[in-house]
Amino acid sequence: MADKFALVILAAGQGTRLKLNCPKALAPVMGRSLIDYVIDGLCEFKSHISDHSRIGVVTGHMRERVENHLKNSYGALNIDCAFQEKQLGTADALKAFYKGCSWGKDSDYTLITCADTPLIRAQDLQKLYQIIQKDNLDAVAATFCEENPHGYGRIIRSKTKSGFHIVEEKDADSEQKKVNEVNSGLYIIKTSFVLNHIEKLSNNNKSGEFYLTDLFQDDFKVSPVLFDHSELFLGVNNLEQLETAQRLLGKRKVKKLQASGVRFLDSSSVLIDESVEIGAATTIYPQVSLHGKTVIGEGVVLEQGVVIKDSVLEGPLEIKAYSYLEECKVKANASVGPFARLRPGADIGSKAKVGNFVEIKKSILHQGAKVSHLSYVGDAEIGENSNIGCGFITCNYDGAKKHKTVVGKNTFIGSDSQAVAPVSIGDNCFVACATTVTDNMPDGSFSISRNRQTTKPGLAHKFLKKKD
Ligand code: UD1
Ligand code: MG
Repeated sequence: MADKFALVILAAGQGTRLKLNCPKALAPVMGRSLIDYVIDGLCEFKSHISDHSRIGVVTGHMRERVENHLKNSYGALNIDCAFQEKQLGTADALKAFYKGCSWGKDSDYTLITCADTPLIRAQDLQKLYQIIQKDNLDAVAATFCEENPHGYGRIIRSKTKSGFHIVEEKDADSEQKKVNEVNSGLYIIKTSFVLNHIEKLSNNNKSGEFYLTDLFQDDFKVSPVLFDHSELFLGVNNLEQLETAQRLLGKRKVKKLQASGVRFLDSSSVLIDESVEIGAATTIYPQVSLHGKTVIGEGVVLEQGVVIKDSVLEGPLEIKAYSYLEECKVKANASVGPFARLRPGADIGSKAKVGNFVEIKKSILHQGAKVSHLSYVGDAEIGENSNIGCGFITCNYDGAKKHKTVVGKNTFIGSDSQAVAPVSIGDNCFVACATTVTDNMPDGSFSISRNRQTTKPGLAHKFLKKKD
């Protein structure tokens, strides 16, 4: 029968060194929380081993926030939480796990991870599992070599016995500090072995904490398992490590996208949330940021510096440089930018055009409508193939309420015009430039509201000032 695993994530710590106003488990990475990546790794591992295995999370600092996150994001996974009242160390956290999640005691193995190691992958967990089984060991710890091992527990392999032990940074002497092989914080331990030993551990060390690492001793049947890539176990304890984690996870995301046909001109400079979907034959220029529930179709070009949040873009189309799009929709063959701003509710139809220095908010531009230069379109609907000249403004706000502007099909609005909402301009209308439209215009009508020009020959000298 398949082995039953208790898959434990230690997430009670405060993350003091991160100095964020959230629990460490919820530190933001690529639009997700640190702990989400650990859960991904465990879920994939679980799918390879047994259906009876279950995930348990030890919470403590800001427990409600962590537990709410797990409930909202992973309701279907049946993740159980155990509360560690005081953060007395990683061994105390594991004790809290067995107390709060008693099903854990019935497992064959306990796999322990930390919420702050987001790069672990299922294949690494499987490698550990194979070794503990093959060598019939009681416990294995994943280790790696680090050029600058500061902050990590050092692996001290016994010269005479088969086991090893771990010395924490604070407790290490100068010789031990020179050891480069360090503890990753990822372990697989026979559950019966943990339950036998965990109560016997003391907190007689410089931190006064109960260290889980003390389960590893020279005369136990325990072994370190050295992994080649140190980055797999990067522990996020400070903002520098959070940035490194984000960069490495970002690289993984880019690799996946490249394999599916997304072309990057400089992938090192882009920021793409884990949740973002991008179709094949799309080209992404440098310094593009894509966030949230953004879905980008096939054959899209995103030029330099484009920022997109929670938006849906149908391909093929082009978003020109330095445009900022939020909660909007853009249909195929539309063109946006450069320097355009699409705010929530902007819905840009196919072959429509939003040009430079144009802001669109909660408005529909139907197929082929054009707003090419320096305009504000808010709470409006612009009909098919209508052309809005430069410097058009919908005056949508009366100081208390927002009002709607409707422009029909095939209408032409001259430059420097305003529509004082609520107002509607029909199909096939012509608005002369510099007109302020305050009254509704029926289909086919013309309107002009500017004053007639007065020209006085020879009078300019009265107004021209001489420069010194
Ligand atoms: C720990 C290991 C260290 C290893 C490093 C790898 C111990 C004693 N040390 O140190 O050998 O090199 O991870 O990143 O285990 N936590 C609790 N309750 C507590 C204390 C911690 O749940 O009372 C959780 C934290 O939320 C975190 C994890 O345990 O997810 C590790 O704690 P942290 O303080 O980051 O330990 P490190 O100093 O990094
Ligand atoms: Mg840590």
